[in-house]
Amino acid sequence: EAAGFGDLRAYIRDIPDYPRPGIVFRDITPLLLDPGALSAAVARIAAFASARDVQFVVAAEARGFILGGALARELGAGFVPARKPGKLPARTVSAEYILEYGVDALEMHADALAHGANVLVHDDLLATGGTARALCDLVEQLGGHVVGCAFLAELSFLGGRERLAPFDVHALVDYP
Ligand code: PRP
Ligand code: HPA
Repeated sequence: EAAGFGDLRAYIRDIPDYPRPGIVFRDITPLLLDPGALSAAVARIAAFASARDVQFVVAAEARGFILGGALARELGAGFVPARKPGKLPARTVSAEYILEYGVDALEMHADALAHGANVLVHDDLLATGGTARALCDLVEQLGGHVVGCAFLAELSFLGGRERLAPFDVHALVDYP
């Protein structure tokens, strides 16, 4: 795995004043371009979850899907997409959330999870925690059990981790 790739922070670049003046956007696309860094990221997130008997990975459209599928494959778990309203074809459950810059909702298929299923919640980045909180709410609406929340990066100065309490939160790279 992972040896030689060190701190994956080196593969995340800062974009000043995106999407608005004063916001420094942490862009993970350079990490995705590098096969070794990509592989290390998936392996390290999976390592956090490996002892938790994960049956499903739940991830948020759109950027949560990038590593979410790879993570499910790595863990031998299934993958459940949480999508923006109106995108899923069958019956859904819904959770609203407030974003760092906007308001939206996420939906999940109502029959996606067996009652009591062990679920790893994943997204690329934890900011205010609104998106991940909505994912946890969706899982709980269906009677699933959140065994942890795992991210590539965390903007810990925004307090998202506190918003996800009491769930166990893990991120590979922190921006305090
Ligand atoms: C970004 C990011 C997370 C979320 C984090 O997604 O990918 O999903 O914001 O912010 P939060 O912790 O404050 O909720 P965005 O809503 O920009 O959508 P995208 O994945 O479709 O680009
Ligand atoms: N970087 C990347 N994605 C994000 C950010 C950010 O600063 N805030 C919310 N989603």
